Amino acid sequence: MRISVVGCGYLGAVHAACMAKLGHDVVAIDVDEQKIAALAAANAPFYEPGLDDLLREVQVTGRLSFTTDVAAARGSVVHFICVGTPQKKGENGADLTYVDAAISGLLPYLSSGDIIVGKSTVPVGTAARLAEIIKSAEADAHLLWNPEFLREGHAVADTLLPDRIVYGVLNGAEDHDAVAVLDSVYANALAAGTPRIVTDHPTAELVKTAANSFLATKISFINAMAELCDAAGADVTQLADAIGMDDRIGRKFLNAGIGFGGGCLPKDIRAFMARAGELGADQALTFLREVDAINMRRRTRMVELARELCGGSLLGKRITVLGADFKPESDDVRDSPALSIAAQLQLQGADVTVTDPKALANASRRFPELHYVSDSTEAMASADALLLLTEWQMYQDLDPYHIAEIVASPRVLDGRNVLDPAKWRAAGWVYRGLGRP
Ligand code: UDX
Repeated sequence: MRISVVGCGYLGAVHAACMAKLGHDVVAIDVDEQKIAALAAANAPFYEPGLDDLLREVQVTGRLSFTTDVAAARGSVVHFICVGTPQKKGENGADLTYVDAAISGLLPYLSSGDIIVGKSTVPVGTAARLAEIIKSAEADAHLLWNPEFLREGHAVADTLLPDRIVYGVLNGAEDHDAVAVLDSVYANALAAGTPRIVTDHPTAELVKTAANSFLATKISFINAMAELCDAAGADVTQLADAIGMDDRIGRKFLNAGIGFGGGCLPKDIRAFMARAGELGADQALTFLREVDAINMRRRTRMVELARELCGGSLLGKRITVLGADFKPESDDVRDSPALSIAAQLQLQGADVTVTDPKALANASRRFPELHYVSDSTEAMASADALLLLTEWQMYQDLDPYHIAEIVASPRVLDGRNVLDPAKWRAAGWVYRGLGRP
């Protein structure tokens, strides 16, 4: 199948490489020349495990090309829209500029019967609006909405073998010709048993926002429990283990800590609230305001705990922050709780050093005023307190006896509740977790 992919960010670059791996002929398009040059040289412009290898593997097959020229989409049968939908500046709603530009850019190059497949996360109602634009341009193309559920850090595996595939088709018509075409694009996953749901445009759009809202709610629920555990002297980690054994609840996404960040969950719940307001259904989602508020409180709580741990004042205290990205196995610092806490500590007078195995270049572009050291041992030298804020395995594996010898004071604040308190305390550390006695 000849496929075009518009947008080469975390979603599009991985999607394009995976489609080529599955045997399709893919042209990937982006307006960013630097990004395209890097991808064409089989260098992912961001860190995603396995992506560089996959790019090299498909490059030799000649099935994947990169360009800034949208005219290269001509001749493809399926066109995937994978551009970003960031939060609007100063508003909760999603900025659809890139989605609209992708559609209008494609229109002159469509042929009769082409299929446009939206993968970007959009407010419900967007597909219907875009379908009207396509119709009024008299392009004989069908629009499907096929949301993507990939997690950063697992993006390649999640794309090649997703846990479900959702198609939003005009009026939910399962016998639509476009369904069969998309089935052949995803033939591998379908043959491997991945369930496929065909529905209408608005339901498909809502599946994505509802899923992300549920995940955000789960995290904020356990973080609210952590607040209570702190007040009552209970242990949120054991609480999560115990309630998670009920398979109606499940243990996944019940890790209390500094909360969720990244390019998806925070902006998606806000855009969902904004859209519900436009639809006159804002009451249905007022709980998401609380989910957002609980999440943001985690960051303030962490700064307060750091102050307590440092004896009541942050002024001049040397604090080492372990981890800058919003989650491990990523270099993505968009709305990273770790960086936001590091910046707050610095503003309140601490002398902050940040270390991370992958994210320092992105972090220093976002917060140039912080001090960055790539070697973690060097970063921890003479620290008055360590703050573990992103749970990279290398930080979970730190030897508390060895580290105790290089810091100025053995004090550690575990923002992800991943260290063994007994082990660290036995090595002489003052250990604090979140929602743990
Ligand atoms: C998310 C969704 O999981 C994915 O399905 C969707 O397609 C895009 O958004 P991602 O942004 O890659 O994926 O991150 P995710 O793994 O969901 O983690 C989001 C944030 O929640 C991270 O900051 C993580 O540290 C935090 N988190 C996750 C917790 O604080 N506790 C948990 O138990 C789980």
